[in-house]
Amino acid sequence: MIQYKGKKPSRRSFLTGAAAAGAAVAGATIARAQGTPDPAIVNMEPWAQYNGVGVDAAPYGVPSKYEADVIRRNVPWLTADAVSSVNFTPLHALDGIITPNGLCFERHHAGVAEVDPAEHRLMINGLVDRELVFTMADLLRFPRENHVYFLECAANSGMEWAGAQLNGCQFTHGMIHNVMYTGIPLRLLLAEAGIKTAGTWIMVEGADGAGMNRSIPMEKALDDCLIAFKQNGEALRPEQGYPLRLVVPGWEGNMWVKWIRRIEVGDQPWYAREETSKYTDLLANGQARSFTWVMDAKSVITNPSPQAPITHGPGPTVITGVAWSGHGTIPQVDVTIDGGITWAKARMSGPSLDKSMHRFYYEFDWDGKPLLLQSRAHDSTGYVQPTKDQLREVRGENSIYHNNGIQTWSVNEQGAAENVEIS
Ligand code: MTE
Ligand code: CO
Repeated sequence: MIQYKGKKPSRRSFLTGAAAAGAAVAGATIARAQGTPDPAIVNMEPWAQYNGVGVDAAPYGVPSKYEADVIRRNVPWLTADAVSSVNFTPLHALDGIITPNGLCFERHHAGVAEVDPAEHRLMINGLVDRELVFTMADLLRFPRENHVYFLECAANSGMEWAGAQLNGCQFTHGMIHNVMYTGIPLRLLLAEAGIKTAGTWIMVEGADGAGMNRSIPMEKALDDCLIAFKQNGEALRPEQGYPLRLVVPGWEGNMWVKWIRRIEVGDQPWYAREETSKYTDLLANGQARSFTWVMDAKSVITNPSPQAPITHGPGPTVITGVAWSGHGTIPQVDVTIDGGITWAKARMSGPSLDKSMHRFYYEFDWDGKPLLLQSRAHDSTGYVQPTKDQLREVRGENSIYHNNGIQTWSVNEQGAAENVEIS
């Protein structure tokens, strides 16, 4: 039984459409027949009539002017000012699995710190044999590794807990980016300092105005954390923590301290001493869940979506999206075009890397009837992405953080998509 919450597309018209969905459109071809010559192929376009600018016109390249809409965007009413705020990755305009550096969403508590790398230091103190201070040059003498990881803010989709709200996957799911980091395994730096046996936690602190700090259990610090200095091959962007950021694979974004300047080894989490904050999940009974570090499996269809409608009419149509899990890889994503009455396995394409985004596609012949699109991720532990109602049963509706529920887009006959909820 399909019931709509929030914005309601017509259920009756959808159900009659659903029966026909999936039926092939006879004789559909993608390219147009050349009956009337297309002026764009017959005419000599201006750019073919003269030489373009030479090399060095843009010593650091920028995208084509025709891609000017592909930018990070914020939602001005969400926060009081831009300094302690967030903007969102334009997921609907991207493909593959890598987020270009200039499009990685930003989340700052006190704006972007403008750090001079020559003056930047990383200190390790606390329960260690030797308190150490590293310059950037010192750090470059340690062995480094390359890994592609997603970073998702715990508040991603946080505005959707009470029902469908923001109209675009950029805004519902865009507090995520996925880049290749080059960095030094944190365990190597901790080993250099020598952790005392009582050292079971680290406190990591940023050099920004917020001096943002977080507590991380030693087990994770020694496992796969990195002190990164490159993203997608080039220096970290100032927005992402230039010149150094902590990478905490699979764990909520707020722990990935940017502009990292200090690591203190201790024997308890710092918030036990009320010196640092943490994110908690308020449950329906008023109790709060303290630790939700790992980001559970999640997925979203990026095309079509409210900012990326179907503009070509019925016929061959590509659905695509991304999926990720802080617990491993994504071997399978299911897609439904009829609100969950029938599901099909999507086609995964591109590298399947641990704690990284994965790309999926589902190609079908659209009959032009309304669609209810959803994707459902399965991760390598066997966990299956829940519906929003399944999540609410466990978590209530007080939460802001850790909403990994299944997203629904309703697509009308014109191809326009809207954020809706069904149950
Ligand atoms: N580190 C510092 N020093 N200051 C911050 O404000 N924000 C955190 C984390 N690290 C923050 C920080 C939060 S809440 C998130 S979600 C991620 O950085 C965002 O990383 P990004 O700006 O690269 O997207
Ligand atoms: Co965050």
